[in-house]
Amino acid sequence: MAHIIDGKKISTEIKDELKAKVELLKDQNITVTLAVIQVGNNPASTVYVGNKKKACAYVGINSLSYELPEETSEDELLSLINELNQKDDINGILVQLPLPKHIDEDKVIRTISPSKDVDGFHPQSVGALSIGQEGFISCTPAGIIELLNRSGITIEGKECVIVGRSNIVGKPMAMLMLRENATVTICHSRTKNLMEVTKRADILIVAIGKTKLINKDYIKDGAVIIDVGMNRDENNKLCGDVDYDDVFQKASAITPVPGGVGPMTIAMLMKNCVDSIK
Ligand code: GUN
Repeated sequence: MAHIIDGKKISTEIKDELKAKVELLKDQNITVTLAVIQVGNNPASTVYVGNKKKACAYVGINSLSYELPEETSEDELLSLINELNQKDDINGILVQLPLPKHIDEDKVIRTISPSKDVDGFHPQSVGALSIGQEGFISCTPAGIIELLNRSGITIEGKECVIVGRSNIVGKPMAMLMLRENATVTICHSRTKNLMEVTKRADILIVAIGKTKLINKDYIKDGAVIIDVGMNRDENNKLCGDVDYDDVFQKASAITPVPGGVGPMTIAMLMKNCVDSIK
């Protein structure tokens, strides 16, 4: 039977540690400020942005909201980012994705100063991670490392299989697991014999966006299962990329959906904001 990795509890521990750090900074008259930009009113984005602002309030970080209309031009958005890049009293800049179709996301990400890139999406941040240099690390993969470490799960020397190769999760996750001395394999939608590969995993991280793709036939006995998926099942209930009930007896540890990886993403965003003070 699997140990349930409680992301909600671990994320609260991290936010409480950060809260104490922010209080110490305040004693030195240092405040942490995050600029949060949302373009348009994608309902999911509004929920995510609201949760990020709530987390800022909890930790003691100032959040400045820039809610721009859907019709905002790319130039207008880039000018705002350039303005925020110049301001010494803004420590982090977050542009909620996805952006409306007429705006080039890559260009927007490249415009954020790497020193304020608390999402860790800038090519310089991604490159720094790949070659072991300092920089902001994408929040979801960083959160997964914290979940494993704080659950007493050893990473070094383990076979780690990652299902999914997105720029935000799969690729940076592979780089981080490599940095932690795991042996890493990345699978994706074109992988042949996916089941053969995932069955080798001591630690299986799934971020492919397919409802309950991974069942007990895909895992080995005692595997640690990290589910990054966030989908709705046939009853409109939130579920992951892993069939939780099916793998539960066979896995040694598992993250639930919701309450596993999700809360960690925001906790690590808060950590990046506090680290931006250095
Ligand atoms: N959209 C979905 N996830 C994220 C995230 O982690 N950061 C930003 N900026 N946008 C997102």
